[in-house]
Amino acid sequence: MGATALILAAGEGTRMRSSLPKVAHRILGVPMVQHVVEAARAAGCERIVVVTGHGAETVEALLDGVECARQDRQLGTGHAVMCAREALGAITGSLVVLSGDTPLITAETIRSLVAERDRHGAGAAVLTAVMDDPTGYGRIVRDEEGDIAAIVEQKDCDNAHIAIREVNTGTYCFDAEALLGDLDRLTTDNAQGEFYLTDMVAHLRDESRSVIPVPAHDASEALGVNTRVHLAEAAKAMQRRINERHMLAGVTMTDPLLVWIGPHVELGRDVIIEPMTTVLGESRVGDDVHLGPNTRVTDSQIADGAVIDASILVGADVGPGAVVGPVAYLRPGAVLAANAKAGTCVEIKSSTVGEGSKVPHLSYIGDATIGRKVNVGAGTITCNYDGFAKHRTVIEDGAFVGSDTMLVAPVRIGEGSVTAAASAISRDVPPGALGIERTEQRTVDGWTARRRAAIQGTGEHDSEREGE
Ligand code: UD1
Ligand code: CA
Repeated sequence: MGATALILAAGEGTRMRSSLPKVAHRILGVPMVQHVVEAARAAGCERIVVVTGHGAETVEALLDGVECARQDRQLGTGHAVMCAREALGAITGSLVVLSGDTPLITAETIRSLVAERDRHGAGAAVLTAVMDDPTGYGRIVRDEEGDIAAIVEQKDCDNAHIAIREVNTGTYCFDAEALLGDLDRLTTDNAQGEFYLTDMVAHLRDESRSVIPVPAHDASEALGVNTRVHLAEAAKAMQRRINERHMLAGVTMTDPLLVWIGPHVELGRDVIIEPMTTVLGESRVGDDVHLGPNTRVTDSQIADGAVIDASILVGADVGPGAVVGPVAYLRPGAVLAANAKAGTCVEIKSSTVGEGSKVPHLSYIGDATIGRKVNVGAGTITCNYDGFAKHRTVIEDGAFVGSDTMLVAPVRIGEGSVTAAASAISRDVPPGALGIERTEQRTVDGWTARRRAAIQGTGEHDSEREGE
């Protein structure tokens, strides 16, 4: 497309009442300003310049592959563009100006804004929206031809302007040379004492350049986030947009209002997602996967046919046909091979569970390599940390780890070997051997009857009255 994008993101966002700069607030796991950057990139903008100021270090750290220009004092949207002049250099053609607090803007809309300005040879094209409640937005004043004569900010509105429901969305495509050439004509002669970018309308028209409105198809694209109430509205709109895309591509959501999918997540066909499920970050889910209910997946890979029930996955890799949960916690580096299982109340981190191996109940597996067809008994724990350093546990193919085994790492359980239940295994068990560490059981014959007689003799406990 060849256009350059300029994203204004230096404002504090006082009404957010936050120590975080406004544009750093996240929607479905992605900072608002990043949503805008991604829309510009998807629209084909070759260069993207972001104006940062309030909390600049925080905002710049969130961004990749963009240029940043600093606006040290926030003297208005027009001033923000002035601060980017040096970074932009001598550019010609289309300059798309976007707000970092308008996260629902889409690539298609940016493209159509550029195309409309081109088609009309206009000085600028402004994305407008008709709002039931236009409070807070700049009002669009049209001339007899239907072009934009002026944009009047809320605080500068008279009674006639206040009634106008068509508003400026803060998304524009300018003729770059005309904008940058005329920028110094802006003044602070207005209710807020700021340099308004919106005043460029008048200056462009002075030079006989037209300013055309491009109405938004979907008013939600115009949603500018100024408060946490707006943030929640934007999140709701984005959730709906993303969920509809996935449902139309073959994903079942039993209640899409209770499913949150991040914008970068890939979902296969015939995935079923139950309520109270969140999939965020760079997660990829294969075909025929069943997710939820009550599941949280972040930055994880889940292969075809896996089942994840009421579990938390962070940086995990789940193989095809694997079963997770209920209530499993797979932490970074947890890798389940095909048809493996991490069952009820099982926590796994930095460990591989081999093909067909099962960790079905109440276990902690950390820093372990588990081979194929291994059964890890209920309550087994890898004691991977000795208070000083972490150590590895290796369990070879076909081993059977008895219930409640403590595997004191570093330790190796050989192929086809067995550990006896309740053993604390701190030495390697060779292939095919039994590892047992347990005091011998003592059996006291007739103990129960003697105990009962002793209790009744002292009246300590009256079993006759138990049922009352
Ligand atoms: C602006 C528009 C208004 C429009 C609305 C749409 C102006 C004068 N008004 O108003 O017509 O209806 O957006 O949401 O442009 N920013 C800077 N530096 C500054 C000031 C702002 O970078 O000195 C950035 C902010 O971070 C924000 C964007 O520009 O991302 C918009 O600023 P904001 O103060 O929210 O403008 P509005 O009052 O909403
Ligand atoms: Ca705003």
